[in-house]
Amino acid sequence: MIPLTLREIAQATGGRLHNATGDETITGSVEFDSRKVTAGGLFIAVPGERVDGHDFAATAVQQGAAGVLAAREVDAPAVIVPPVDTSHGRAYVLAGDRDGSGAAVLAALAALARAVVDRLPNLTVVGVTGSSGKTSTKDLISQVLEPLGPTVAPPGSFNNELGHPWTVLRADESTRHLVLELSARGPGHIRALCEIAPPNIGVVLNVGSAHLGEFGSQEGIARAKGELAEAASDAAVLNADDPLVKGMAARAKSRVVFVGKGQDVRAVDVQLDDQARATFRLVTPRGEATVRLALHGEHHVGNALSAAAVALELGATPEDIAASLSSAQRRSARRMEVTTRGDGLTIVNDSYNANPESMTAALKTLASMAGHERRTWAVLGVMAELGDNHAEAHEGIGRLAARLGVDRLVVVGEQAGAIQHGARLEGSGTGEEPVLVPDVEAAVALLDTELRPGDVVLVKASNAVGLWRVVDALLGSRA
Ligand SMILES: Nc1ncnc2c1ncn2[C@@H]1O[C@H](COP(=O)(O)OP(=O)(O)OP(=O)(O)O)[C@@H](O)[C@H]1O
Ligand SMILES: [Mg+2]
Repeated sequence: MIPLTLREIAQATGGRLHNATGDETITGSVEFDSRKVTAGGLFIAVPGERVDGHDFAATAVQQGAAGVLAAREVDAPAVIVPPVDTSHGRAYVLAGDRDGSGAAVLAALAALARAVVDRLPNLTVVGVTGSSGKTSTKDLISQVLEPLGPTVAPPGSFNNELGHPWTVLRADESTRHLVLELSARGPGHIRALCEIAPPNIGVVLNVGSAHLGEFGSQEGIARAKGELAEAASDAAVLNADDPLVKGMAARAKSRVVFVGKGQDVRAVDVQLDDQARATFRLVTPRGEATVRLALHGEHHVGNALSAAAVALELGATPEDIAASLSSAQRRSARRMEVTTRGDGLTIVNDSYNANPESMTAALKTLASMAGHERRTWAVLGVMAELGDNHAEAHEGIGRLAARLGVDRLVVVGEQAGAIQHGARLEGSGTGEEPVLVPDVEAAVALLDTELRPGDVVLVKASNAVGLWRVVDALLGSRA
C-alpha cells in the first residue's frame, strides 16, 4: 500500500484512533491473516467462523504491524471503524459475522481502498466479470500487460468484497495497471466493487447460468454483469459471441470494443493440437499476428481475445500481444491443469469449480484431447447454485458427455445423479453404462482398478465437492 498514517486511515474510513497518536505510518502491506503480516503492515481484524481477527491484533503488532483496522477496541494501535446499517441486506456477508462487525470492517476496507485509488491518478484499472473464465482471463490480461508496466492482480480468484479491496490495496505509486476480478451474486454487487476502484476498462466475458438461483433469470444475471459495462470510463470490452453480453453495449458510457466472430478483435483459423491448445491468427484493427496458446481448451480463445483487446487499448502492438499470449501460463490452480503420469495416463484437473458452461467447455476439451485413439473418462460432480435449473442442467451435461462419446462417465455423489440420468437418456453408444458412485473414495477405488495407461481423465465439479482429492489420489499413487 502507499504509505498512510493511521490518522489518514481514520479519515478515509470515518474511524477513530485507539491506542494510537495517529502518526503511526503504514509502510507495508495490508493483511487479514496475522501470519502474513510483515513490518510496517496494516492488519485488518476480520471476524471469521472459527476465529476472530480481533483476537490476533496484538500478535499482528508483535509481528511488525504498525496498526490495526478493527470494529472494536483491541490491545494495539488501531483505527476503530464505525458500525454500518445492515438492516437492508448486504452484498457480501462474512461467515461468522454475527454482530455486523465484519460488515463494518468491509465497509472501511472499501473506503480505504477507494482513498488509495484516488491518490494514484496514473493507475489504469481493468475489471473483468463473467460467469466463467474471470480468473483465467484476469491471468491472461496480467500477462499481456506486465511487459507494458508494473501490474497488480489478485492471486487466484479474489473477487468479492474482501479479496477485491485487498487486491486494490496492493497498488502503489509504481503500479501502472490494476487488474481486478469482479463477481456478483446479486444486483448492485459489481457496481459496489466498481465504486471501490472505478474501472477504466471493463471486460465482460459471458452470461451463463451460475447463480441462476439468486438472480432468477439469465436476463437478471446480464443486468448485474452489465454494471461493469456501465462503470467503465474508457472502454467496455464485450464478447459479441454472447448475445446478452453484446446487448450491454447499449448501457456502456464509454467506447465499446467488441471481440468475437466477425468483430474488430477476432480469431481466425483456430486449430487445436492433441492437447487441445489453440493456435489462431489474432486479427485486430492494428494488424494481425499468430498466437499459440499454452492453455488447454478452445474456450480460452475468447478469453485471449478479451485480453488482447485490453492490451490494444493500452498501446500494445498485435505482435507484442501475440508473443505475450503465446508465452502465457496458467497461473491459478485446478483450472484445466493437465498432467501426464509416468504410465501415460493424462489427467485434466478442472476441479476448482463448475457450472454448465465450464462443464461444456471442459467436456469438449476432453473429447478433443482424446481424438479417436485414447479412452476418455469424465469424473463429474455436482454443479452448485443453479436453482430451479438444477436437474435440467445436470441432465444436459450427461447428454453432452454421451454425445461427445465420453467412454466412461463416473458421476460422484447423489446430488449430481441427473448427469447419469441424462447420459442414459442419450445413450453412450460405447456399451459402457454411466456409473454413480457415492463419494470421492468410491470414485478413486473405481478408477484405480479400471484406468489404463493412455486414458484421459477429466475431473470436474463445484468447489465444495473437493473433487481434486481424486486427482491427488491418482497422482499420489502412481505419479
Ligand atoms: N470463456 C469460458 N467459457 C466457458 N468456460 C470457461 C471459460 N473460461 C474459462 N472457463 C472454465 O471455467 C472454469 C472456471 O474458470 P475460472 O476460474 O477462470 O472462472 P471464474 O469465472 O473465475 O470462476 P469463479 O466464479 O469460480 O471465480 C474452468 O473450468 C475454466 O476452464
Ligand atoms: Mg474466479
